[in-house]
This record gives sequence, structure tokens and C-alpha cells, in this order.
Amino acid sequence: MSLLGKIDLENLPSHIAIIMDGNGRWAKKHRKSRIFGHTHGIDSVRNAVEACAELGVSYLTLYAFSTENWDRPRVEITALMKLLVKAIRNEAKQLNDNNVKLTAIGDLNALPKSCLKELNEAIELTKQNTRLTLVLALSYSSRWEIAMAVRKIVKDVIDEKIHFDQINEDVLQDYLATRDIPDPELLIRTSGETRISNFLLWQIAYTELYFTPTLWPDFDKEELYKAILDFQTRERRFGKISEQIKAK
Ligand code: IPE
Ligand code: IPE
Ligand code: MG
Repeated sequence: MSLLGKIDLENLPSHIAIIMDGNGRWAKKHRKSRIFGHTHGIDSVRNAVEACAELGVSYLTLYAFSTENWDRPRVEITALMKLLVKAIRNEAKQLNDNNVKLTAIGDLNALPKSCLKELNEAIELTKQNTRLTLVLALSYSSRWEIAMAVRKIVKDVIDEKIHFDQINEDVLQDYLATRDIPDPELLIRTSGETRISNFLLWQIAYTELYFTPTLWPDFDKEELYKAILDFQTRERRFGKISEQIKAK
């Protein structure tokens, strides 16, 4: 029986972030090339997007390619970029039909031109959509994002657009790539690794973390429901004590 019926729709995370890991190991398990794993990973992306849209989750951020992933073998990078172009091309219409808005965070100018073009077209096509915002983290790393934010702040101080006395957490947040996106309530990482790998370090200050041994290509809708159900058992205290939370 599906776990869907057990989910409390009044207590959904409005933003779920996922570190989609384990494509390579999944491929190895099936005695196939790493690229085969990445190709299958796209089905899991489709499932996660669909499930979030159906449930009423407002934001889904997917870590698709990190700054550090540029250090992988060239053949893998080339294949991944080709796959990305193909996936965006194939899925853009479907996303649009389902009222999903596509956006991206990261050093997008580092992407191959063909990739950036396809991405920008899909972003443009879907920009009016309101059901779910799908954020792709591409050539993204959190330290890069924070360093960029600091650079922009310093420039605005020099240009006298803001005074250094005004700089606080809210201002810094406004200079991040995620300025228009609320912090995730739930962060999922697949493949059994229990690390963050330079993803949304600022934004996950109070996020609930969920780690599963499931490899990304095996992560289906039920796996997502399981993660949400686990999230719904957590008491989010934000530094307070349990009684204060319960008194609300
Ligand atoms: C995640 O799967 C996809 C990307 C990082 C692009 P991996 O390729 O990291 O798979 P494993 O971790 O080697 O199994
Ligand atoms: C994190 O996975 C990045 C993405 C999922 C895009 P990695 O496979 O690159 O992370 P590490 O190297 O195991 O930390
Ligand atoms: Mg990995």
C-alpha cells in the first residue's frame, strides 16, 4: 500500500532539497557505465518533481552538478552535460504543462553554451508558472555562492548603495542565489553518504536532514513519501524547549 495516505498534508515541507547521489554505484551494481546510471537518474528526477507537484510542495531544489564535479574525468563531464541538454529539451514542455517553474542556481556561465541556451529557454518558457518551483543547482557550491555574495556586498558598499552598518543576516540572505527562495525544511541525501558536499550551507542552518541508503536511480515516489513521513515525526525546536513548541 502506498505511504501517500499517511502523509499529513497540513504539515508538508514547503521546500525540499535533494542531493541526488549514487548514480555511479547504481550503474556499477548493474554492471553498466556510470553514464547509464546518470540516464536512469533522470527518471527519479521526473518522479520527484511529479510527487512534489501532486502533494503541493512549493519548492524543490535538486543538486545536479557541483563545482567540485568539474574535477571528474572529462568523458563523464561531457556526457553529463549532453544528458542535461537532452533532459531539459525533453522535459520543458511537460514542466510547463504541469505549471512548474524552472530556475537554476550556480555558476551558470561555466556551463557549455548549448546547455546554458537550453536552460535559459526552459526558464523563460516556464517563468509564469506557479504550482511548483524547480531549482536546479548546476555548477553550484555553497562556498562559491557565499563568496560571490560577499563580493557583491562589498561592491554595493563601495558604490554607497548600502552602508556597512546595515549588513546583517537578512542583507546577506538577499545577496545569495537563493534570495527569492525560502530555506528548505527538509534536505534529503541518497546513496548512504552522510555529508553535505558544499550544498546550501547557509540555507540549511535549521533544515531537517534525511539520509537514505537508496541510490538515486532507485529513489521513487514512495521513497520521497517515506522521507516526508520521517520529517513529520520531527519536533522542530529552533533552539527553544519542547514545552514552548507544544504550547503553540
Ligand atoms: C550523483 O551520482 C550525480 C552527480 C554527482 C552528477 P554520482 O555520480 O556521484 O554517483 P556515485 O556517488 O559515484 O555513486
Ligand atoms: C554531490 O555528490 C553533488 C551532487 C549530487 C551533484 P558527489 O558525489 O559529488 O559528492 P561527494 O564527492 O561524494 O562528496
Ligand atoms: Mg556521488
